[in-house]
Amino acid sequence: MPKLRVNGHKIHSRAGISVLAALQNQGLWTVRTSVSGKPRGPLCGMGVCYECRCLVDGRVQKSCQVTVQEGMEVETAEGKDSLSSQTLLEEVAEGREQKAEGKKELTLSPHEKNRSSSQAKQFPQGLGLQPSAFCSIPSAFSLLPSTNSLLIIGAGPAGIAAARAASRACQVTLLDDNPRIGGQIWREKEGLKLPENVQVLSGAPITGVLDDKTLLVAGQKLHFERLILATGARELLLPFPGWTLPGVVGAGGLQAMIKSGLDVAGKRIVIAGSGPLLLAVAALAVQKGAQVVRILEQAPPKQLAPFLKSLTASKLLQAAGLGRIAATRYTSNAYVKAALGTEKLEKVQYQSGERTLELECDLLAVGYGLVPNLELAVQLGCRLDQGFVQVDDTGKTSVAHIHAAGEITGIGGLDKALLEGEVAGLAATGQPIFSLVPRLQASHRFVRTLKTAFALRPELQQLADSDTIICRCEDVRLAEVQGHTDWRSAKLHTRLGMGACQGRTCGPICQHLLGFDAPQIRPPLFATPLEDLLLEEQP
Ligand code: FES
Repeated sequence: MPKLRVNGHKIHSRAGISVLAALQNQGLWTVRTSVSGKPRGPLCGMGVCYECRCLVDGRVQKSCQVTVQEGMEVETAEGKDSLSSQTLLEEVAEGREQKAEGKKELTLSPHEKNRSSSQAKQFPQGLGLQPSAFCSIPSAFSLLPSTNSLLIIGAGPAGIAAARAASRACQVTLLDDNPRIGGQIWREKEGLKLPENVQVLSGAPITGVLDDKTLLVAGQKLHFERLILATGARELLLPFPGWTLPGVVGAGGLQAMIKSGLDVAGKRIVIAGSGPLLLAVAALAVQKGAQVVRILEQAPPKQLAPFLKSLTASKLLQAAGLGRIAATRYTSNAYVKAALGTEKLEKVQYQSGERTLELECDLLAVGYGLVPNLELAVQLGCRLDQGFVQVDDTGKTSVAHIHAAGEITGIGGLDKALLEGEVAGLAATGQPIFSLVPRLQASHRFVRTLKTAFALRPELQQLADSDTIICRCEDVRLAEVQGHTDWRSAKLHTRLGMGACQGRTCGPICQHLLGFDAPQIRPPLFATPLEDLLLEEQP
């Protein structure tokens, strides 16, 4: 059982869980303080929103993406008067200076301890960055091959299916920024097996694209000949008054947090939003001992009927199992209007038909479906079609050496992801796919049914009032962006989307609420330590 020090206090944590879960299990939900001094808790649970960031071993890290280790030092907002992003940066700089001066001993993580080479580094070309400094930080991923016959990005179901299929023909490298393979859906699944000729690089964030066959990964160049993108999706989170209170999380976010070790036994949870995910999250929470107070599905029953009709026998059985859990708690045609509380969530106010009601609860999990993670595909020049990566029947994108699979080609769930992954893995390595084509077409029909059944009601666009925060990183309110006609103008005038998540949360919100265009995320693709933007100097 690892021992950690959190805000100076020693705690014991279960092994193998995330740092965030270790904090939450101690009742520590306020992980940081916002730029305007408000308490903030985790939202997405999957490395997108940056709301869980805190100091781990002297580095600003997303605590949901770091696994607890013996002796870790963690510092959250509760250990600081104000742990805003700026303060965090100052903390790190100050800590490093003091360490250099021998004033303060910082505990280094094993990751940092491995950084001890004297190889010179240089800024990569192609990121639009100019070298301003050189330093001597070694590679965190010394095993990265310089050339790969096939690289797959994303180790969720689609990426794993692609790797298994492609490995019958060639050596495969499977890369993911999460600490474990499995993606969101198989996050806690044990015993995921891959063939021996699949090399896995987990915990490897892609910083940028250097050219059409070279990526920058944690400060190193990674070359590839062929690529399969399986970068998955994140949740669509729509703002409403009170949604920034600690205790309000995404629906998929709650699922990810539970799978990462959050103990929900005895907690009163309201699950709301839209889509089949709500029932799956409820089932998981009940299985872990939570009290699911209510499940609120925004779609009216009439809209859901074609979806239920489209389910196969096995899916109906699965739905029946989930339905038993939900029988007395599922309310369709209902949606959350506000989260109420002062420092943390206390109550939920929701609309059910004509009535406005309230429920007391400990956690509110709200998600309105998924949006694809397109940033890397766009950087690599893949053409989009109606907000997804455009592919042919074999999964090939508009860029000849790049295939795509899973949610980035259309939101369709596990079966579609597995099938598309297999097709892309076979096609990218020259193996036949004929027998899979009819199933692939059926999965695409299911995508269309899902989209219709869970189409979002117009009232959801009116939930945020002028004072509601839209951009959680920079605390930009709806009133500040309403006068602007596009993303760029709003960004330039208000700092919308300029925080750590780079618009990944507020970008889709602005598209949905204000009709803005999709934000163009520029490299580095994720908030990245300066040292990871430095490449080893070529001899
Ligand atoms: S909760 Fe960790 S990044 Fe969103």
